Amino acid sequence: MESKRTNFGSKVGAVLAAAGSAIGLGNVWRFPYETGQNGGAAFLVIYLACIIIVGVPLMVAEFAVGRRSRTNNFRAFPVLGAKGAWRYVGFLCVLTGWLILCYYAVVLGWTLEYVFQAGSNGLAGKTAEQYTADFSTFVSDPVRPLIYLFIAVLFTLGVVVMGVQKGIERASKVMMPMLFIFILILVFCSLSLPGAKKGVDYLLNPDFSAVHPSTFLAAMGQAFFSLSIGMGCLCTYASYFPREANLFGNALNIAGIDTIIAILSGLIIFPAAYSVGIEPGSGASLVFITLPNVFYQAFDGLPWLAYAFSLMFYLLLSMAALTSAISLLEPPTSLLSEEFHISRRTAALLATSLVIVLGTACSLSMGVWGDFKLFGLNLFDFFDFATAKIMLPIGGLFTALFVGWKMNKKALLTELSNNRTLPQWLVRMFYLLIKYLLPLAIILIFLNELGVFGF
Ligand code: TRP
Repeated sequence: MESKRTNFGSKVGAVLAAAGSAIGLGNVWRFPYETGQNGGAAFLVIYLACIIIVGVPLMVAEFAVGRRSRTNNFRAFPVLGAKGAWRYVGFLCVLTGWLILCYYAVVLGWTLEYVFQAGSNGLAGKTAEQYTADFSTFVSDPVRPLIYLFIAVLFTLGVVVMGVQKGIERASKVMMPMLFIFILILVFCSLSLPGAKKGVDYLLNPDFSAVHPSTFLAAMGQAFFSLSIGMGCLCTYASYFPREANLFGNALNIAGIDTIIAILSGLIIFPAAYSVGIEPGSGASLVFITLPNVFYQAFDGLPWLAYAFSLMFYLLLSMAALTSAISLLEPPTSLLSEEFHISRRTAALLATSLVIVLGTACSLSMGVWGDFKLFGLNLFDFFDFATAKIMLPIGGLFTALFVGWKMNKKALLTELSNNRTLPQWLVRMFYLLIKYLLPLAIILIFLNELGVFGF
């Protein structure tokens, strides 16, 4: 089995690919929108706590499962000795990611539309109201977003079919650093807009009276979503890690980069939103209606610069989203292909078909199917809610419980210490963290959501 699995070419490649999975629309699109809907800076504080207490330990746990079992996420648990219902934890995880991809691909499609808009100079010379109106006309259109959804899915399929090393690694290496530089420049642009300070305050000055019970679940859901944890995505990647790769170091690096990018995105979006009078709580549309303002206001009088910049930015954003989409398609693909002994190509095609069907439904729910509601949410929002706030934390909880309580302790400690190269105390500490604190934290946040503690 082992010899058949490809490894990432280099350590840097493995980390970058995992970072490529983590960094995506979760940082640039979902983080500002969740922050805006949950009161700003107070949400950020809780979010950071979730990253540290839940995110990093869980990421290490997933890495350990993946590298130890060196197989797909579905088989990983039985391979590591899971019995009974535990055998299906991996399946739940893969299913979650698959469902996330269904609406993630829709948003990836939106970014492609914006690449097209930017490229055809369709963003120039408009007011903030027009950007808002244009966005809602676009997403509620019954045809256009679907075309982009198909293109998005085809791109994703293409890279996954090309294989692990060639496709994923190569793409991540170039795109990620470039995106980072663009984001930095945009932060400066946004901060230079008139009235930007209010947006900075909104993101950095916590007002804890705005905190609801649901803020905690939202923050945890966002932490899971942004770090790509809770569904075995990183687990599948870690099965390609070299034996000597440092799991802690990788987890810290990835969580660090991911969080920095999220905060920087907030520093682009909120100052700009305040500057042009867009509500920070405008939800899924927030990024798409604020960004064009940043480009065309900050580069006022230099239209060609605004043009070039917006085009490049949307291109890079869609690339970042693409590397995440790839990572969402990889687990179902490797599951189907290794379990049913079919080629990767067929497996990826099968996995993609479901994405197209459900993605279409999600996309249409922003427009013509908008009246169809589940628990008061349209299908798109329902998918987002059910996956990020329920399925990911549950997948994470079971992964943590399995790793802490069921997995062979010696095997776990060997993985955690990277073949005994790390100091004992660090390994012990993480072991205890995974075993006790991590499940407890997730359960408390759930109970809090149910109103058990009343705050
Ligand atoms: N983390 C990615 C983002 O921020 C999305 C993503 C990719 C993801 N793989 C995942 C989310 C696995 C949850 C689980 O855009």
